[in-house]
Amino acid sequence: MAMLISGKELAEKEKEKVAREVETLRGEGIRVKLVVIIVGDDPASKTYVAGKAKDCAACGIESEVVRFPQQTTEEELLEKVRACNEDPTVNGLLVQLPLPKHICEKNVINAIAPEKDVDGFTPVNVGRMVIGESCFLPCTPAGCIEMLQSTGLPIDGKKAVVIGRSNIVGKPMALLLCAQNATVTLCHSHTRDLADICRQADILVAAVGRESFVTADMVKEGAVVIDVGINRGADGKLHGDVDFSAVSEKAAFITPVPGGVGLMTRAMLMRNTLEAAKRQSGRFE
Ligand code: GUN
Repeated sequence: MAMLISGKELAEKEKEKVAREVETLRGEGIRVKLVVIIVGDDPASKTYVAGKAKDCAACGIESEVVRFPQQTTEEELLEKVRACNEDPTVNGLLVQLPLPKHICEKNVINAIAPEKDVDGFTPVNVGRMVIGESCFLPCTPAGCIEMLQSTGLPIDGKKAVVIGRSNIVGKPMALLLCAQNATVTLCHSHTRDLADICRQADILVAAVGRESFVTADMVKEGAVVIDVGINRGADGKLHGDVDFSAVSEKAAFITPVPGGVGLMTRAMLMRNTLEAAKRQSGRFE
């Protein structure tokens, strides 16, 4: 039976650490602030943004949620991004995705100042990550690495399989595992013999966006399984990409949904926001 990797516990620890540092900075007269921009009424996005604001409050980070209506133009949004770039009281800035179809996400992300890009989505931060330079790591893959490390098992030399090649999760996840000396296979919708490839994985990361996509027959006995999926099921509850009960019988470690990767994503955002404030105040680490 698999051991649970608790996103709740790990995220709480990380947030406590961030909160202590935020407090120290406050003592030195430095305040930490995150701005989150949301466009439209996507219910999932609204939930995510509320979670981010709640974590900021728990860490002593000031947060401002800027809400734009669905019909906002790209130029209006870009104007706000530019204003935040230039506002010295704003340390971290993120635009919640997805954006309405009439707005080009690439243009908006490209407009965010790399030193405030706490999502790690701008080309500058992505490029730095690829070549292993200091950067803001994207929060979900960074959280997954923390969860893997929490098991105490080595990543070095292991076979890792990532399912899903999104810019936000799959691609950076593969890069971060590679940086930890895993041998990485990045699978996607055109991959042949997916189940065979997954069965070879010591570390299996599912970032597909389909409920119960990873079944027990795709998992090696003793594997570590990281479930990035957050899918609203027909039962109205949240489900991951992994058939949790069946896969738990085979894996050595598994992350739950809810209470898994999602909470670590938020905790990594707090870490990045603190880091942004430290760098902007001249505290390089
Ligand atoms: N939409 C889904 N996940 C994320 C995230 O981590 N950051 C942003 N900005 N939008 C998202």
